[in-house]
Amino acid sequence: MNSDINQMVDSENKITAIYPGTFDPITKGHVDLVERAVKMFGRVVVAVAENRNKAPLFSLDERVELARESLKDIRTVEVLGFDTLLVEFARATGSQVILRGLRAVSDFEFEFQMAGMNRHLGPEIETMFMTPSERYAFISSSLIREISRLGGDVSAFVPEAVQAALTRQRTGSA
Ligand code: COA
Repeated sequence: MNSDINQMVDSENKITAIYPGTFDPITKGHVDLVERAVKMFGRVVVAVAENRNKAPLFSLDERVELARESLKDIRTVEVLGFDTLLVEFARATGSQVILRGLRAVSDFEFEFQMAGMNRHLGPEIETMFMTPSERYAFISSSLIREISRLGGDVSAFVPEAVQAALTRQRTGSA
């Protein structure tokens, strides 16, 4: 984490961006995106979706807790769980912008569809895209889960708290 990140925050900036995802679990790619976002927005809400469709490995509470722990040094970030329509949660948190990460062209089709649908549901909320560092362009939470399950080393790609939680999951320790 960049230790000067809080100094780069513009305290006059009143724009809140909501960064939604399943975060099962949060990775360094997500953290990298949040670190970039806080330089552009006064407040960033990391919104962890319940997302039953994906049958997440970690419970919603665990995913929220891991994201909080991973982002605890950034003052202008708030991590919240939600189980509603994203645009409704954006309104409830006073967010004007939905932020999404684009890692590769393959992300584009789904993102384009979601942005269009969210604009239909909440025309006052703008979707913006950012790209993570190239270092993290090829990671995804499902790859991380699989590598960890098979005993591989994921330490380069996830915050320490996540690595510990994945190890606990794998070994079945409390
Ligand atoms: N670094 C690393 N990985 C990243 C990343 C980054 N910067 N950005 C995205 N990813 C990965 C994630 O790890 C995830 O990987 P996985 O599929 O292998 O687990 C994948 O990209 C996409 O995940 P995510 O960004 O979490 O999006 P999602 O598709 O899981 O989340 C929601 C979609 C939650 C935003 C969407 O379902 C939603 O808005 N739900 C609320 C209900 C709603 O309003 N639905 C209508 C929407 S139009």
